[in-house]
Amino acid sequence: MKLLVVGSGGREHAIARKLLESPQVEQVFVAPGNDGMTLDGLEIVNIGISEHSALIDFAKSNDIAWTFIGPDDALAAGIVDDFNQAGLKAFGPSKLAAELEWSKDFAKEIMVKYDVPTAAYGTFTDFEEAKAYIEKQGAPIVVKADGLALGKGVVVAETVEQAVEAAREMLLDNKFGDSGARVVIEEFLDGEEFSLFALVNGDKFYILPTAQDHKRAYDGDKGPNTGGMGAYAPVPHLPQSVVDTAVETIVKPVLEGMIKEGRPYLGVLYCGLILTADGPKVIEFNARFGDPETQIILPRLTSDFAQNITDILEGKEPHMTWLDKGVTLGVVVASNGYPLAYDKGVELPAKTDGDIITYYAGAKFSENGRALLSNGGRVYMLVTTADTVKACQDKIYKELSKQNTDGLFYRHDIGSKAIKV
Ligand code: AMP
Ligand code: GLY
Repeated sequence: MKLLVVGSGGREHAIARKLLESPQVEQVFVAPGNDGMTLDGLEIVNIGISEHSALIDFAKSNDIAWTFIGPDDALAAGIVDDFNQAGLKAFGPSKLAAELEWSKDFAKEIMVKYDVPTAAYGTFTDFEEAKAYIEKQGAPIVVKADGLALGKGVVVAETVEQAVEAAREMLLDNKFGDSGARVVIEEFLDGEEFSLFALVNGDKFYILPTAQDHKRAYDGDKGPNTGGMGAYAPVPHLPQSVVDTAVETIVKPVLEGMIKEGRPYLGVLYCGLILTADGPKVIEFNARFGDPETQIILPRLTSDFAQNITDILEGKEPHMTWLDKGVTLGVVVASNGYPLAYDKGVELPAKTDGDIITYYAGAKFSENGRALLSNGGRVYMLVTTADTVKACQDKIYKELSKQNTDGLFYRHDIGSKAIKV
């Protein structure tokens, strides 16, 4: 069978590489992909994620069995609806089901209606009303642009003034355009964050190992929020009882609610959770896999991923098996300056072999094709599996210290929270 993955980052590299491991899969295409993926035998196709009809034509003329959709903006643009209308199968939610991610206000409405634990909130389009709400609630308080904002539309404000300023930038200064024309202002939740993923078809769902991302750019959770600088799975200090509670109080009611709303869910449901003193609560839903979480979850899958997704698409029970020992951990290497302005064109170290995987995000061949150069904010990620978080760190950081990372940077403390606990 031949498969297509839509997207270009490390997440799509991990999805495509795992699919290619299946003995049933002859070829995996990634559109638009990045040049680094070709080092793993993946075929990149020069079609952008918003070119739905070109992607559909490609899938038809190449006999693609089904397409895996990676990024949120493609889902929000209705790519799955377009594929289905053309008679093609795609793994990802419809535009209406993906609204759980592309409108924070919609996600909140669903959570309130179906009694899913989350922060108390208000939604505003009027600045004066938003300001009055912030002043009444006090700080700390969280201000979020309603729509997709590349992970940058959330301000955790420590003072009332900061929160009012954030609301002003979104509602009056148009900082995030239409995405910020409406804001959700919510209660600050205190606790440890973790990510819980489920592969879903309607009311059937399959839970993946828990993961923990590191969103801040620099060591010690300092610096600006990024797409994610590293992650590990499973989260060793998270008791199974917390996962069981999250499944019962969050995953099940949301999926049942989406069916009642006439928006049955298919694809990956990503629950961004925070473990508060009152149990796990939702920070956000995403309608897709996480990046970098995918790169550390999928290497733990020991079953045939292509068969698993085929089964879920057909409404059958997938036979999923996972490594039951050890931890998988990965460190992202990014361009100096990321998540703000950064340079491109830095020569990258050679791809690792053996038990350290290199996943590429922003990588491009030089003109003569001899070198791989940086071509994005997050550039590549090293991932390994070992008995403990510490053993993973030792392996990865030893490898990174041997690599020439001039012009690039990475965090030195991925997973350290798990060691302290
Ligand atoms: P989001 O883009 O919604 O994942 O938010 C980005 C980050 O802001 C999260 O990873 C949290 O660290 C933080 N955050 C979002 N909402 C809250 C909240 N209600 N309480 C505390 N922290 C939050
Ligand atoms: N790792 C965070 C995200 O994918 O949204």
